[in-house]
Amino acid sequence: MRMAAPAPGQKIKVGVLGATGSVGQRFMQLLNGHPWFDVVALGASPRSAGKTYEDAVNWKQSVPIPPAMAPLVVSECKPDAPVFKDVKIVFSGLDANFAGEVEEAFAKADVAVFSNAKNHRYDSDVPILIPPVNLDHLDIIPAQRKARGYDKGFIITNANCSTTAMAIGIKPLAAKFGIETIMVTTMQAISGAGYPGLSGMDVLDNVVPYIGGEEVKMETESRKILGTVQNSVFVDADVNVAAMCNRVNVLDGHLECLSIKLANKATAEEVIDCIKTYPSITKDLGLPSAPDHDVVYNPSHDRPQPRMDRMVGDGYTVTVGRVRDCNVFDIRMVVFGHNTIVGAAGGSLLNAELCVVRDLIN
Ligand SMILES: NC(=O)c1ccc[n+]([C@@H]2O[C@H](COP(=O)([O-])OP(=O)(O)OC[C@H]3O[C@@H](n4cnc5c(N)ncnc54)[C@H](OP(=O)(O)O)[C@@H]3O)[C@@H](O)[C@H]2O)c1
Repeated sequence: MRMAAPAPGQKIKVGVLGATGSVGQRFMQLLNGHPWFDVVALGASPRSAGKTYEDAVNWKQSVPIPPAMAPLVVSECKPDAPVFKDVKIVFSGLDANFAGEVEEAFAKADVAVFSNAKNHRYDSDVPILIPPVNLDHLDIIPAQRKARGYDKGFIITNANCSTTAMAIGIKPLAAKFGIETIMVTTMQAISGAGYPGLSGMDVLDNVVPYIGGEEVKMETESRKILGTVQNSVFVDADVNVAAMCNRVNVLDGHLECLSIKLANKATAEEVIDCIKTYPSITKDLGLPSAPDHDVVYNPSHDRPQPRMDRMVGDGYTVTVGRVRDCNVFDIRMVVFGHNTIVGAAGGSLLNAELCVVRDLIN
């Protein structure tokens, strides 16, 4: 069901938790001038609380701090803080050491929470929502509210950034042919580690073949995301994923090389065709941040590439390329997505816009 968007002049008041961090800064950039959402409250650590945003943040985006946001005073992340009084949505870019309890407190206080942290991703009543992949997982929200005693609040998480790109890239294949097994090797940008992240001594002229916890996240989250909701219970997809994750000397955007065993055999041409004809789900839903296409196929022999493709669809589109037969499984291909836009803040924004359209923000 498609609901009316908030009328002009009646934007929904929102807050950003972890507003000073890498993901938080991206939220501030993407929420600037948003047609439905008005940023009125910012939260971060006690180190930042009490300062104006421009004094608290070590701004690292390539555009200036939005002028209307610079003078906002950062608060501690407490739902009873006065700045959060009329807030109906919070976007969370909180450090995972603190996100879990803080996000629960906001949900309990009637706030819809859209989280980027890992803390609640594996809860049995919390969706890992990616609208082009599994928007039916929203069906769990009434059960979550009931089980946790939330009235108007709830918690929705994003996937880990590398999992998001992979899930959007493989969804057309999963829907049409079914997927049994994926071997994936990632080349992940340094912004995925937050700021300051890795030292220059570690990452310049180098590749680090280890990202703590990342491989298990890709292997676990993709099963939940590609699964179904049956009688208010998540049923994991029967797909085997083996991930090998590497940090490379790239600023933004994760590149992933996949070898895929399909449930029903298909040629490379058939796979390309199913990607090219996959519907533009977020645009069809009328979400204001939606790109023209959630996933595109790039036919060039040497694409996607981070520098060339990170801003396709303003960073909301996942690009697939190099689709070809595989000597071991069925299909090989390369998937690329912007880790802090579609893989983090932008993904949360689409989730919140979807919840507005579905009349879940009350
Ligand atoms: N970077 C990515 O590409 C990416 C992608 C997907 C998901 N994520 C996840 O998103 C979350 C944020 O990542 P990030 O890279 O943005 O991290 P980050 O740059 O380190 O930012 C962390 C934020 O948490 C705040 N914080 C720290 N301690 C706090 C406390 N005690 N109470 C309240 N707030 C506190 C920080 O505020 P101060 O500035 O005041 O310290 C800062 O705003 C993490 O859970 C991460 O795993 C990141």
